[in-house]
Amino acid sequence: MKIRFPFSLACIFLLNCTNSHAQSQRKEQDFDVNYIESRVPEYQLPAILQLAEGKEVQNPEEWHCERRPQILSLFSNLIYGVVPVPEFPIRVNSEVIDETDFLDGRCTRKIIRIQFENQRGAAEMQVLMFVPKEKKEAAPAFLMLNFDAVDSEKMQMASGESGMLESGIPLGKLIDQGYAFISVYQQDLVGHNESEFKNSIHQLFFREGQSYPKANEWGVISAISWSATKALDYLINDPDIDGERVALLGHSKLGKAALWAAAQDERFAMVFSVQSGCAGAALWRRKFGETLAKMSIFPNWLCTNARKFIHQEDDLPVDQHMLMGLIAPRPLYVASAIDDHWADPRGEYLSAYHASAVYEMLGKRGLISKSTPAVGQPLITQDLGYHIRAGGHRVEAYDWEQFIGFANYHFKQ
Ligand code: GCU
Repeated sequence: MKIRFPFSLACIFLLNCTNSHAQSQRKEQDFDVNYIESRVPEYQLPAILQLAEGKEVQNPEEWHCERRPQILSLFSNLIYGVVPVPEFPIRVNSEVIDETDFLDGRCTRKIIRIQFENQRGAAEMQVLMFVPKEKKEAAPAFLMLNFDAVDSEKMQMASGESGMLESGIPLGKLIDQGYAFISVYQQDLVGHNESEFKNSIHQLFFREGQSYPKANEWGVISAISWSATKALDYLINDPDIDGERVALLGHSKLGKAALWAAAQDERFAMVFSVQSGCAGAALWRRKFGETLAKMSIFPNWLCTNARKFIHQEDDLPVDQHMLMGLIAPRPLYVASAIDDHWADPRGEYLSAYHASAVYEMLGKRGLISKSTPAVGQPLITQDLGYHIRAGGHRVEAYDWEQFIGFANYHFKQ
């Protein structure tokens, strides 16, 4: 006897199978993600104030001249990738391509085009600027690495009196407090999950016959960091901007890029790492939330050498507290969100806590307590600041309030 299923019933059955298959697959993928604090393995961090040769760093000079370059080289060659010296010099041309009144005339909106060119190819990026109209001197600035492009709707004014951009950036507040707000789009020079490097900035740096970065050469994050540095090259020559008070800010992937940019380029006077997590503020060795293995769905965010440490984090000669140490003595603010388990908020705090040794050595104030502060208790007045807020993975009004507070405290006192 033939059993006949009504067609609709068969569809429901099939749908259910597919769903439960997808669910079990997802569960399997998540199976090895640890979200339980008591399961964080025992680990020992590499000593931040000890030279590779074993000698303790005794004073600021030894830090600056010996230990800092060692750590920088390890991050360059093993984690983010070195920017190679191009075979042909790169010509850079910057020009203002648009300038208009914005925010009811309270600021000027400018777009700068920066073009790069050599015998290997050409590329360009744009820098979007909002500069306060009423200012007695060049303005300090927030430079944000941004997921939104210059012409995206998110960078337009939200309706009403909010003074906010569609993306939630409190432009009115920043302008009223005397800050310029500057935005650099993360995908101008490299794709979000670049795999071919055919249209990325890397082209201009490839040697004869090369079509892919070498194992120690720059990946995606490093290229975004490079774009921040190129924006700063322009900004320090723009009379509207105080080049000595440019704070670099990034969320998530772009928080990773902000930390790496400021670690290399000491002209960034302040840094905000917002829920930057794995390869950002969080410690590798805790293996909480996202890990190096999980991050390999973006295989080129880091350099190829980093892959050697998948499931081998304890072999790394660095951990992320050392990246923060490279930013000392400049003010650094780390922001976490309590439900953002993927980014390991506890690991973000601990990194900052362990980086504090460098801040202290350089005569600055780091974090004293090993315990994460309570939600809603921002630490603003030390040079290494921190907050954790309620909620998840995004930049909220509360975060901006603390960022402005931190900048006011350290830029204006
Ligand atoms: C993914 C990725 C994170 C990254 C995040 C983001 O979740 O795994 O490492 O920080 O995207 O950029 O929003």
